[in-house]
This record gives sequence, C-alpha cells and structure tokens, in this order.
Amino acid sequence: MKKVLEVKDLSVKIGEEKILTSINLSAYQGRVLGIIGESGSGKTMLCQAIMQSLPSIAQITHGEIFYQQQDLLKLSAAQLRAYRGRHLSIIMQNPSAAFDHIQTIERHFRETLKAHFVMTKNEIRQLAIESMSKVNLPNPEQLLHYYPFQLSGGMLQRVMIALSLAIQASIYIADEPTTALDTVNQKQVLTLFDRIRLETEAAILLVTHDLGVIAELADDVAVMYKGEIIEQANVYDFFDAPQHAYTKKLLQSRITF
Ligand SMILES: Nc1ncnc2c1ncn2[C@@H]1O[C@H](COP(=O)(O)OP(=O)(O)OP(=O)(O)O)[C@@H](O)[C@H]1O
Ligand SMILES: [Mg+2]
Repeated sequence: MKKVLEVKDLSVKIGEEKILTSINLSAYQGRVLGIIGESGSGKTMLCQAIMQSLPSIAQITHGEIFYQQQDLLKLSAAQLRAYRGRHLSIIMQNPSAAFDHIQTIERHFRETLKAHFVMTKNEIRQLAIESMSKVNLPNPEQLLHYYPFQLSGGMLQRVMIALSLAIQASIYIADEPTTALDTVNQKQVLTLFDRIRLETEAAILLVTHDLGVIAELADDVAVMYKGEIIEQANVYDFFDAPQHAYTKKLLQSRITF
C-alpha cells in the first residue's frame, strides 16, 4: 500500500478555541478513507486544513501535511496553488458553488487544464468529453456548451468529479458529496467513487454521516469526536470490534433505527 497523504499531529484553533487537536491520519493509493463523526466534530475543518482553504479566522497551530514526500504547509502560495489544483482535488457538498455560472462547462475544463498542462483547445475538448463519459454524463459533447445553472446538482457533482479525473488528481477529498443530492444521484456518485478507487490510483477521503456509505465504500475509517480522531481502523474492525465508547454508541444507534 502506497501512502499518498499523511497528516501528522495537526492542530487548528479559532482564537483560543481548539477546533482540531493532534490529528494523525494516512490515506493510501486506491483506498477510500471514510471520515465519520457528529456534526461540529471538525470533519469539514480537517478537509479544509488539508486543502489549506480554512476560513481566515482559523489557524493551523501545529503539524505537518505530507503529500508524498512534500510537506504542503511548507510550500509558498504559488507552489501550493500548483499542488492544489493538480494533485489534490476537493469535491464539495454543494457543487453549484464550485462553478462560475457565466462560464460554459468547456471553459471550466479549459481553465483547469490550462493551469497545469500545455494542451491545445482540441485536446482539452477531447479529454473533457472522455472524462465526462467516464462519469456517465449523457451527451458530453453537448454538455460542453452548457452553463452550470442548466445542469442538475447530480450532474454538476459528476462534472466536478470529471474535472478531477481529467487532471488525474491523486487525492480526492469529498466532504459529504452526496448530501445535497436525491437518492438516485447519490447512488450514482457513490458508485463512481467506487470505480475511481478501483480504476485509478487515487486515494479518496470521504466524509459522511452515513454508516451505510462507510460499509459500502470505505476501506479504512477514522472517527472524529470534538476535534480529535478517537479511532482509526480498517472497515472490518470498525464494524466488528469498535474500540472507543463513542464508536460503540454510534454503531448501536444504527441498530435501533
Ligand atoms: N467559520 C467558522 N467560524 C467559527 N467557528 C467555526 C466556523 N466553521 C466551523 N466552526 C466550528 O468548528 C468546529 C468544527 O466544525 P466543522 O464544520 O468542521 O464540523 P463538521 O464535523 O464538518 O460538522 P457537519 O457534520 O455539521 O458538517 C465546530 O465547533 C464549529 O462550530
Ligand atoms: Mg462539515
């Protein structure tokens, strides 16, 4: 198993309030790391810390975030931009917010790809069509000419994933990527992550509230509670032999549903 991301002893504060405390976690090539925990436990802050897109009031007070051998916290702003768009990609809960609604889908592919590769307009178009086909978007050629507001949330979510596929991102950070979608679209997006895991070498960090999603997709699980990771295990041990009282409670509460 090749480690692609390692977070070491990461702490984040907002003012004097501890938001994340001594977070340690690793993500591996071709594996899904599920991150679960109650609302306010710090899941989104963790994703944003890794992407270094924390709100300005939040400060990383300690720690390291290694992408392969590079500590992302030691990069200059320009170097970080290059890494962020190229290797790490965030799939947001509300895909609509990730798009510029006065630019076509083709333009989004062009801007993203041009930032990292030297490609002709035609090559970009071909790659965009290919990537959108991979995520089962219908009529990708036509879609290129659409504006984001003309597409459903589920379609936009898949366009966002297609953009990450096109740049061959090695880490997908998906913060509750399906909560804004209806069940059909949810299922499609989750199946897609499963395929990405199998077909590409990417590591996927998948934040979810849903233990069913964890059971179906995750290889490893990290449980967050009040800004800390209180348990980390492979998915079998997580369900069969939970260690922490909170994890046991979480699993029990599922049975009573
Ligand atoms: N912009 C902000 N300003 C101040 N505090 C914030 C801000 N965003 C989040 N927090 C605080 O940081 C902590 C962690 O929040 P975070 O959004 O990471 O939780 P979460 O686990 O993602 O929750 P949810 O499951 O509801 O998305 C919470 O205590 C929250 O109140
Ligand atoms: Mg959140």
